[in-house]
Formats: sequence, C-alpha cells, structure tokens
Amino acid sequence: MNKIDYLRLSLIDKCNFRCQYCMPEAVKLSYILPKELLTNEEIVILLKKVFIPLGFTKFRLTGGEPLLRPQLEHLVRNIANLPETEDLALTTNGFFLANMAQSLYDAGLKRINISLDSLDPETFNQIIGSGNSSRWQQTWQGILTAYEVGFNPLKLNVVIIPGVNDTEILDLAALTIKRHWHIRFIEFMPIGNGELFTEKTWIPSEDIRQQIRSEFGLVASNVKGNGPADVFKIPHAKGTLGFISQMSECFCDRCNRVRLSADGWLRPCLLNESGQIDLKTSLRQGVGFEVLKTQVQQLLQLKPEINFKQRDSGTDTGFYTRTMSQIGG
Ligand code: GTP
Ligand code: 5AD
Ligand code: SF4
Repeated sequence: MNKIDYLRLSLIDKCNFRCQYCMPEAVKLSYILPKELLTNEEIVILLKKVFIPLGFTKFRLTGGEPLLRPQLEHLVRNIANLPETEDLALTTNGFFLANMAQSLYDAGLKRINISLDSLDPETFNQIIGSGNSSRWQQTWQGILTAYEVGFNPLKLNVVIIPGVNDTEILDLAALTIKRHWHIRFIEFMPIGNGELFTEKTWIPSEDIRQQIRSEFGLVASNVKGNGPADVFKIPHAKGTLGFISQMSECFCDRCNRVRLSADGWLRPCLLNESGQIDLKTSLRQGVGFEVLKTQVQQLLQLKPEINFKQRDSGTDTGFYTRTMSQIGG
C-alpha cells in the first residue's frame, strides 16, 4: 500500500476567475458560508493532533483561489513552523501574487504552482471567463514576482483544450529553455464541467510529448514534487516539463494523498467521496483527537479501493457534478 503522507487543504471554494474547465459560468454555484469554513486555528490543530501523528508531512494549500483566504500568511507561518512539516506548497491562479509573493515567502512558503493556460491575453480571457483584459498581464506579473522572490521550484500548470490553447504547446514548452520554470501539461478531466467536456476536449499527454519531441527533443528528468506528474525536459533546458495524465494513464495506483475541503470534510479522492469524514463538525462538537485519528486511519485503509475509475454517487453519466473549485483541485 502507498504511504499516504500528502494532505491537500482547500482554504476557500471561491475564486476571482471562472475557468471554463473548473467553474464554468453556466454552472450556478453556491458557496460555503464563512462560518462553515475551517478556521486557521482549526486547521493547525487538526494537523498537529490528527494528521501529523498519522505520518502526514507534506501539505499543499489550494482552493478555489487560496490567495482570497483572509490571514493566509498567518496560516502559512503556523504550518511552516510545525517541526514535522517537510514540504509546504500552494496552488494559485497567480492574479494576486505580485502583491503577496514576498510576504508568503517570508512566512515560510517556498514552493508554488501557478495556472497559466495561455500566453495570449485574449485566449487567457476566454478560458478564465468574463472580465477585463489586463488579467493576463497581472497574472504574468505575479509569476515574474514569484520567480524573483525565490520560489523554487516554480511550476506553471496548463490544461490543454483542443481548439482553445493547443496551438501554444510549443511556445509554452519553450519557456523552460532559458528559465528555471517548470511547465506541466494537464489532461482536461471531466469534473463539474459536463457541458464542456467531450472526448474531443482533451489530448493525451503522449501526443503533446510527441509534438515537443519532434521540435526540441525530450529526455527524462525530475523536479521536487509530491504530485502525479511524469517529468521530462528539453535537452539542456533550465526548467522541466511535467505531464499529468489522469485520462490516458490513470495514476491512482500511486496516489499518496487525501484532501480536506474548506468546510472540513476529509475526502479520500478527487472524484470519490466514499467514506468521507466531517472533521469540522466532530471538532466543534468536542470529539476527542484519538477518535478522530482512528476515523482518519480507517479512511486511509479504505483508500486503495476508492479512486478515479470508480467515481462515486456524485457522478452523473460519467461526469462528476462537484466542480474542481468545490472539491479543492
Ligand atoms: P507537486 O507537489 O508540485 O507535484 O504538486 P501537484 O501536481 O500535486 O499539485 P497541483 O495543485 O499543481 O496539481 C496539478 C494538477 O494535478 C491539478 O490539475 C490537479 O487537479 C491534479 N491532481 C492533483 N492531485 C490529484 C489527484 O489526486 N487526482 C487527480 N486525478 N488529479 C490530481
Ligand atoms: N481538469 C484538469 N485540471 C483542472 N484544473 C482545474 N480543473 C481541471 C480539470 N477539469 C487544474 C487547474 C489548476 C489545478 C489546481 O487544477 O489548472 O492548475
Ligand atoms: Fe479559479 Fe483555479 Fe478554478 Fe481557475 S482553475 S476557476 S483559477 S480555482
């Protein structure tokens, strides 16, 4: 059985973007009420008393958009300062990063993954939903600032959608040649976007690799990370190219993580909620930490049977109905 030592913590289900593949504008979303969000204190106590004693040492803060979470730096500092924390990272859309990168770094965050689906401001706007046209520029500035501040490795996540941004694969890959940036191509997954997803809206990673191989060459590589990416690089490039291939090469058999939603549900899988535990309600009712630990341990034991292939009752004709922002990507 895989060691499960990576907890993805969603801090908020809201986002300032509405990426088509994550929070399509056509989907009416209702958000978690502020009083239902785990507080920073509750998150830290759960880590100290439940997750760390069970062997968790790697934490990633996600959303929605985690930079919208009030007092984020304070939470980062508290998690980074736990002696057992081996790795603390964050996944963001980058829009607020130019102003926050330095304070997050100073608080102890050293690793960051930023979504960047296009180098073209118009395509970018088409992907992230309606809004003004300077958003690409501000996101790009966020990436540059994060790099200057020293986040390392700095990863950029790209979901490739045929007909939308697939013509940019080589330009995006080429960013890694002269910069220490790590681009990851992610296969588009059918999560909360049933209207949009079809067999034609995703491209197998191998097709993307083939394009890059023909143009630049491609060799195996590696980069610090706990996630499912297979890592390569263009020969002599400074950065790497990662491929996250859930659709074509399901990686559930090497899964090492569970997820805590912003309102405190511990979920065993991105797309399968079987056995999920409402840790927030138990904590607020005063249930003891030993009991919580036993419950979490039971969930971890069930985990190998719970995966993407066996999507659970949240599934409707093969499409999971919760959006990625609600689950905590
Ligand atoms: P590293 O530690 O840097 O390797 O991070 P990561 O790749 O785990 O994190 P990130 O938040 O950047 O996730 C990148 C992509 O991987 C996103 O599209 C995620 O939804 C996808 N991903 C992460 N965890 C899972 C998972 O458990 N199952 C599936 N199917 N996809 C996942
Ligand atoms: N398929 C694949 N990746 C997705 N993400 C969000 N929704 C999807 C989806 N349906 C990615 C974003 C972000 C990360 C947290 O999840 O690109 O980088
Ligand atoms: Fe927001 Fe990230 Fe979802 Fe886009 S992928 S809507 S940036 S949470």
